[in-house]
Amino acid sequence: MIRAVAAALLFAGCLAAQTAPVPRIVAKDGRHALMVDGAPFLMLGAQANNSSAWPAMMPKVWPAIHALNANTLEIPIYWEQFEPGPGRFDTSTIDLLLQQAREHKVRLVLLWFGTWKNGSSHYTPMWMKRQRDRYPLIVGAKGRTVDSPSPHAPATLEADKRAFAAFMRHLKAVDPQRTVIMVQVENEPGSWGSIRDYSPAAQKLFDGPVPGELLSALGKQPGSWAQVFGADADEFFHAWSVARFVGQVAAAGKAEYPLPMYANAALRDPLKPGPPGSYESGGPTDNVIGIWKAAAPALDLVAPDIYMSDSARYLKVLELYHRPDNALFVPETGSSPAYARYFFSVLGNQGIGFSPFGVDYTGFSNAPLGAARMNEETLAQFALNYKVVGPMMREIAKLSFEGKVQAVAEEKETHSRTLDFGDWTAVVSYGTPGFGRGDNPRGNAEPTGRALVARLGPNEFLVTGLFCRVDFRNADSGKQREFLRVEEGAYANGVFKPSRLWNGDQTDWGLNFTSAPQVLRVTLGTF
Ligand code: DGJ
Repeated sequence: MIRAVAAALLFAGCLAAQTAPVPRIVAKDGRHALMVDGAPFLMLGAQANNSSAWPAMMPKVWPAIHALNANTLEIPIYWEQFEPGPGRFDTSTIDLLLQQAREHKVRLVLLWFGTWKNGSSHYTPMWMKRQRDRYPLIVGAKGRTVDSPSPHAPATLEADKRAFAAFMRHLKAVDPQRTVIMVQVENEPGSWGSIRDYSPAAQKLFDGPVPGELLSALGKQPGSWAQVFGADADEFFHAWSVARFVGQVAAAGKAEYPLPMYANAALRDPLKPGPPGSYESGGPTDNVIGIWKAAAPALDLVAPDIYMSDSARYLKVLELYHRPDNALFVPETGSSPAYARYFFSVLGNQGIGFSPFGVDYTGFSNAPLGAARMNEETLAQFALNYKVVGPMMREIAKLSFEGKVQAVAEEKETHSRTLDFGDWTAVVSYGTPGFGRGDNPRGNAEPTGRALVARLGPNEFLVTGLFCRVDFRNADSGKQREFLRVEEGAYANGVFKPSRLWNGDQTDWGLNFTSAPQVLRVTLGTF
């Protein structure tokens, strides 16, 4: 009997694995959710170094992912490894990554290092590199070949579509569990060293009419690229051409297996953008997001890789990529401690995921050579974020999709922030003494503070933070706030389980958060 029940359960389990819904991104009222296993999911990500997706390296990857408390590993699939000979596919690395990710109970975002990797094509298979006439690079304005693949090469496009489709077909067959929740198509596509391709084939297209789809998407009148876009023509032409190519690769993959797909951007300065050519041209930089949307509808989103640690720029980038037609996702960001607090800024902008870059113990570091190698100490600030939010990531993702989450990170010159919930205002302050009124916060020695407040009910809030104080004010200035009940606890299976009440010193001057990962459910009243 017991055996029969066990067999039935096993069968049901297998069936559930087989029928787990395909992850997807949904939108409602201008907000977004990444749906995994049928419910909103918050990606607490970590991206490994470029050359780490090899069987020999994975034992140095997993310990760092666990040290970070990440729930998702972003890791490349190399075209040169996947298709060693034309039409001959080697799926062994994909299979190994899936098996190990399941053992480690971590999800995957796979990064297709295909035609573009950081504007070049260094990951195309050797048999392609040896036939540059068939798979050409772009030609610069002065006739010099530039180390960047041409988006106007039909053979390259066909080869990439075929390989990417084979990759997605295989994934569909071997991943009924949906271990892989998203796929990045190419890596930082575009070109360094030339604004566009000036080869005769490209020039002919440039001199021709702007495609009707783009005209109608941008509300422009017909004409040649130069007529319609003036000084922006070269850059916009390249953006359209690259996006068109990437969109077709994505569509070929989606036809096999419709996982969420995105393209990532090497950014331009969001506050003082230099002239075209001073940043990577053709990728989804903030000025051409609309062009990418029109050219590549198979992509679910375009995403910023943020390596600017000052808060003015960081926050501007979040604002630019958080749009009703674009879910905010930060697939790469710096991994030095100064970046950690921005995880909360991403949550405050309704982000669906965040991922520091270069997280593994292979010994490589993007920091100046001679700086500390990545280890638990350098990762500690990021690990704290995920330790606090990890156990309730499903609840936070759901509350965020409902528009109930506000979150902030400390800025150097701003020591206090107010979060407006209508009838209540949450006041977040940094560098306030543990005791005493928080009227004169001075900021932390380094800006490490961060806080999240989410509305749970009429007078009920979920509150957490690090290195900050959170207090509340009622909108009615004649009323003073009263903490009716402050429960510290944790979510288990969707239910908040209190472990103690805060009172006395812990609430008399506001709710003080140190480096301890603490989550509160706060019930407010007035007198
Ligand atoms: C951004 C790229 O997307 C990554 O693959 C990596 O090259 C980093 N820059 C720098 O290490």
